[in-house]
Amino acid sequence: MKKLRIIFFSGKGGVGKTTTAAATALHAAALGYRTIVISTDPSHSLSDTFQINLTHSVQNIATNLDGIEIDAFHELDNNWGQIKDYLSSLIVTLGADDAIAGELAIIPGMDNVFSLLRIKEFYDSGNYEVLIIDMAPTGESLRLLSLPQIVSMALKITRYLEKYIVSPVIRPASKMSKSLRAVIAPENVTHSWELVLEKLLDMRRLFEHQSLTSTRIVLNPEKMVINESQRAWTYLNLFGMITDQIIINRVIPKDGLKGYFKDWQVTQQKYLKMIYDNFSPLPITEVPYLKDEVIGISRLSQLGKMIYEDRDPTDVFYSDKPIRIYSTKKEKIFAIKVPFIENNKIDVTTRGNELIIGIGNQMRSFVLPDSLSLLQTEGAEYNNGWLEIKFKKK
Ligand SMILES: Nc1ncnc2c1ncn2[C@@H]1O[C@H](COP(=O)(O)OP(=O)(O)OP(=O)(O)O)[C@@H](O)[C@H]1O
Ligand SMILES: [Mg+2]
Repeated sequence: MKKLRIIFFSGKGGVGKTTTAAATALHAAALGYRTIVISTDPSHSLSDTFQINLTHSVQNIATNLDGIEIDAFHELDNNWGQIKDYLSSLIVTLGADDAIAGELAIIPGMDNVFSLLRIKEFYDSGNYEVLIIDMAPTGESLRLLSLPQIVSMALKITRYLEKYIVSPVIRPASKMSKSLRAVIAPENVTHSWELVLEKLLDMRRLFEHQSLTSTRIVLNPEKMVINESQRAWTYLNLFGMITDQIIINRVIPKDGLKGYFKDWQVTQQKYLKMIYDNFSPLPITEVPYLKDEVIGISRLSQLGKMIYEDRDPTDVFYSDKPIRIYSTKKEKIFAIKVPFIENNKIDVTTRGNELIIGIGNQMRSFVLPDSLSLLQTEGAEYNNGWLEIKFKKK
């Protein structure tokens, strides 16, 4: 049977997402998979990485490998054009300045979401077995993954309002009132809105599919990067997406740097341990800091072999969600899968949005989602391999 995979490369700015995504795509193509590498990062750098001029339409890079840098503005206009025109005129009717109405009719970050929608089109086309996605840095892109959830609620509300209020009451009334006509969305806009919402919901189903879609988090052994990557992992879990590999990029080889940079190696050792402690049980792969930048097909191919060795890069390396966030009547629960611990040795503290857990003489930290970080912890319980941290609902 044909193997279908969507693999995202996510991480903080500058850690090596584009490089590792490109290396993975080349490696998959070399193994015979029909592959496409897609950049959804508005500041594209796939072209520079491959040293090939990629555009907004699909182009061949190597045998079995195509690539595209998605044009966010084009996608925005395609999906949001009619709605934007309606919102702009509504905003002007409500008294805003004509010059900024167009800007106000676009929710910040929306262009990135519509770029993600293109992934589903490539998936549906049947032309590819493997889709590799080079994402914008986590800070900008991650929260957008929550959008389909919000959208599914919006769709329900829209349909309800349209069926019971707008169609039977407001639309007929607006024929008689000019001012009502000015604010009520015409039918083509409502239709366009429904279409957008449905596409986003389909996208969510695709991204939550356990054996199809995974995210690989790329990071460097540095404090700030680790912290943001932990936050990314928490949110990916929250939105139902599987992370199947942590790629620690730019690890200084033991005999690599002497003199000026030697302290970096000591610092990295400390942070490497922190990464292994905090991201367990995810599979972790170390990639060395190479002598020169990794650009062009030949270097990227070498890097691909270094990352995956004899493994197939399209395999699902991990298919569980070791963090679960859910609610009961009175509490919100942050549950972490930690097999084999003794209940009486758990120590839980929070510091800002950081959750620190001491298990025996081992320490692990997690970054809490914003919705939990403001709540008070009510203790922890260990049940069937899951450590459940309870937060009191407000
Ligand atoms: N292991 C490595 N050894 C040496 N250089 C590397 C390594 N990984 C990446 N680089 C270089 O680091 C630079 C940044 O990498 P890259 O563009 O992949 O990062 P990014 O995470 O995609 O950045 P952005 O957030 O800006 O998109 C590039 O010049 C790349 O060649
Ligand atoms: Mg990049």
